[in-house]
Amino acid sequence: MSLTQQEKQALIDLANTARQRAYAPYSNYRVGSALRTKTGRFYTGVNIENAAYPQTMCAERVAIFKAVSEGEKEFEVITVVTANGGSPCGGCRQVMAEFGLDTIVILADENGKLVKETTVKELLPDAFTPDRLSTHGEI
Ligand code: THU
Repeated sequence: MSLTQQEKQALIDLANTARQRAYAPYSNYRVGSALRTKTGRFYTGVNIENAAYPQTMCAERVAIFKAVSEGEKEFEVITVVTANGGSPCGGCRQVMAEFGLDTIVILADENGKLVKETTVKELLPDAFTPDRLSTHGEI
C-alpha cells in the first residue's frame, strides 16, 4: 500500500485541525492524531489531560479507541501532529502494535510539515503482540 503526497498531507491537516481541540491545560503540549482505516474511514483524536495527571489520555490512543469502538481494527496509516514533530510514547506504540505492525506512522509538526514517516514495527521492535497469548481467539 502506498500513499500519495496529497493523501499524507490531507491526513496531517486533519490531525492538525483536530489538535486545536486538544485538552492540555497542564502540559500545554497539544497533540492531534488522525488515522485512516483499511476500509477508508477516518478517525481523529486529541490528548485529553486531567487534574489527576495519570488519567491523561494520548491523542493516538483516542483515535485508535474511537475506531475500534466503531468496529474498525485495521489501520493503514496513523498521523500524529505536535508542536515539534514528537514521537509517540511507549504506551501508544504498544496500543498501535496490537492492531498491526505494518501500519504506517507519520509524524508532523504544527506547520503541517512531515517530520518522519515510519511504521509501528520500526517504532516498537520485537513487540509483544496478541499472537503471543493462547487466549487471543476473540480477535
Ligand atoms: N501525548 C500524546 O498525546 N501522545 C504521545 O504519544 C505523547 C504524549 C500527550 C500526553 C500529555 O497530554 C502531553 O502529550 C504531554 O505528555
